[in-house]
Amino acid sequence: MCGIFGYIGQDSAPSIIHKGLKRLEYRGYDSWGISIIDKDKIRTIKDVGHLPEEIAQKKLFSTIGIGHTRWATHGGITVTNAHPHFSKDRSFVIAQNGIVENYLELKEELESKEYEFETNVDTEVIVKLVEEGIKKGINLRNSLISAFKQLEGRNTVIVLDLKDKRILAIRNGSPLILGIKKDEIFLASDPLAFNQFTTEIVEVNNGELIEIEKGKFKIFDIDNNKYIDRESKIEKLLDIDIDKGKYAHYMLKEIVQQQHTILKATEYTEKELKPLIKQLNNAENIYTIGAGTAGFSADQIAYYLRKISKKSAISIKSYETESYLDLITSKDVVIVLSQSGETADTLEAIELFKEKGAYIASVINMPGSTLSRISDIFFMSKAGSEICVASTKVFTSQISFGYLISKTLIGEFNEAKKELSSLSSNLESYFTKERFKDIENIANKLVNKEHFFILGKGQNFHIAQEGALKIKEISYKHFEGFAAGELKHGVIALIEKGSPVISIISNDMNRKDMISATYEVKARGALTIGIGDMDFENEKCFDYFIDVAKTEELKAISNVIPFQLISYFLAKALGNNIDKPRNLAKSVTVK
Ligand code: AGP
Repeated sequence: MCGIFGYIGQDSAPSIIHKGLKRLEYRGYDSWGISIIDKDKIRTIKDVGHLPEEIAQKKLFSTIGIGHTRWATHGGITVTNAHPHFSKDRSFVIAQNGIVENYLELKEELESKEYEFETNVDTEVIVKLVEEGIKKGINLRNSLISAFKQLEGRNTVIVLDLKDKRILAIRNGSPLILGIKKDEIFLASDPLAFNQFTTEIVEVNNGELIEIEKGKFKIFDIDNNKYIDRESKIEKLLDIDIDKGKYAHYMLKEIVQQQHTILKATEYTEKELKPLIKQLNNAENIYTIGAGTAGFSADQIAYYLRKISKKSAISIKSYETESYLDLITSKDVVIVLSQSGETADTLEAIELFKEKGAYIASVINMPGSTLSRISDIFFMSKAGSEICVASTKVFTSQISFGYLISKTLIGEFNEAKKELSSLSSNLESYFTKERFKDIENIANKLVNKEHFFILGKGQNFHIAQEGALKIKEISYKHFEGFAAGELKHGVIALIEKGSPVISIISNDMNRKDMISATYEVKARGALTIGIGDMDFENEKCFDYFIDVAKTEELKAISNVIPFQLISYFLAKALGNNIDKPRNLAKSVTVK
């Protein structure tokens, strides 16, 4: 979702901001804007749609400026609504990430004071509140703090100040991070935006004001205006590779990377896992939580904790915590899954669970994220940057980690490592041109269908759900994942001649049920596709079959991969934007 970028240094700000915004594109946006200080003026260029490959830099020279990619919430996708927004006297511009939840109340109040609004975006309310402070004789910095304190919701604002040639920013919820280089400061929603320029970072916490002037930064606590010495806390970023390499799309690259990332995610030693294992052993209740794909990871990890470790684990969706809140106590452990570590629904849930005293253990992929800072303990997924909006490698990293934890709880840490490494080498030989061609051929047969059903049971139930999510995200086709057991209880009414049904089948206790379910839909005319262990390749119930990489205990991982590939090839055949699907944002930082 919205991306913020700021730069003060020696180089061309328009060019650096343009490069930074380009790298924030993966978060999802529908309009963009860049403001720079050019001599005695703030100049702004903005537009709807995608940021062009080049901007007319000749007309813009500056070493200070801010940029923004907007994901429309309040107000349509128009040039006027794009950020940054000017103050009336054009002495400052503001860009914002987040949603001002009390926007209407604030707007009405300002209108009653004769303020006129040109847009219907919530950001304009912030501009007017700051102007109101200045009108009362308060300086820009303090007016910004006072305006910010009136906002409800998770917001981060960035201001370009013409008079003092500086950038101000305040964070509350929406992510913000500083990049530091000799005489240059970068400010962005995530470190991917500036890691081609610097790998030194300084984290910014909620409730902090950043002042950047002449290549130097200062951080203040907005509650007491006290200076915070954070310079001593400069950290180094982990390697971030955002090169597509030989692949046409990030999605395919990230799918193939899974042969390595499942090992990276689990390269922890038993000693490093010990604090979490101890907490889990002493926990009264164990909860797992996440949203979207991370929500399905949470489901799968709870499944492993129950099935492998015999722990009574409950999976919760980040946005449906209401009925659990009264049950959570300081004796509970919550395992949080999040690629970005910035998902608003997840952060809000965790803040509430923390208030109840629960122990928070997070599994995160993005370095320096908010979730890492509010957790009692966190583990990095180490999958490297995941640029495609649809999550693939981080999903399997998360469930690999959950599997390792579940096995460690029963004293089978080494066995888990062996299983992960065997799957990793089997995946290496799985990703062949021939297999891709076979899956592409099957995907091509599905192009003209609209409604699809995926059936799974036991270890494959949540994979049916994640498989369906993956395909709908990129192909925009209607896929639904069900527990095979649900079929007779209603779903079967949807099956008609030609309905595509994908059954996930593993050589486990559920294989017979999966075969019967597939026969039941076939008898009603369904086009049946099996995904699973090679043993079932010749089962008569399947019209097509996609075999998976061999593994004993990690079928969830090997079975989800063909869905990722079907999603990729189906979207390719449909001509969709694979890495940046419509309406979706990589990092869902608003509720
Ligand atoms: C994944 O393909 C999705 N785009 C989405 O469901 C995502 O998993 C969800 O928004 C949670 O994000 P997080 O992992 O960054 O918390």
